[in-house]
Amino acid sequence: MKYLIIILIITTLVAFSYITHITINNLKTPAINEKYLAGKKVWHKKGCVDCHAIFGNGAYLASDLTKTMSNRNKKWIRKFFTKRPVMPPNKSKKHPGLSSEEADEIIAFLIFVNQIDTNSWPPKTLLKTKLKDYNLK
Ligand code: HEC
Repeated sequence: MKYLIIILIITTLVAFSYITHITINNLKTPAINEKYLAGKKVWHKKGCVDCHAIFGNGAYLASDLTKTMSNRNKKWIRKFFTKRPVMPPNKSKKHPGLSSEEADEIIAFLIFVNQIDTNSWPPKTLLKTKLKDYNLK
């Protein structure tokens, strides 16, 4: 009986380790490149985290940007930063702007972040910002 319990414990530990190994091996993290790093610097330099979050970390004044690139295309994002829409619910205060080079770097950063498997974070309801909220012309 004593040996049976020991064998059972060892089998459980081996199975648990194997399942953990398979799960971790399946997580794919994209390769880091220069553009992504430049975008990360823009993210810090411009204080995006004062209002936004990534992976739920940061501020909650504006949306979590982890999966932005699944909802918006590069053209839209570039225009967003260079034409600077009024930030809802404000009437006149505009969103912080970026040069087109910085916008490209931020896009590379957001693409990188978007590729990370977050197990469906953030929930869809947090991502719903309607296009008509912005007055992009
Ligand atoms: C003063 C607060 C503030 C700062 C700082 C700020 N944002 Fe925003 N941002 C907003 C608000 C408000 C919105 C519109 C509502 C929303 O998306 O939450 C917005 C919207 C966005 C959107 C559009 C999201 C979408 O899909 O609709 C992106 C992308 C974005 N911000 C990126 C950035 C980046 C990158 C920076 C840093 C350069 C930044 N923001 C700095 C407040 C801010």
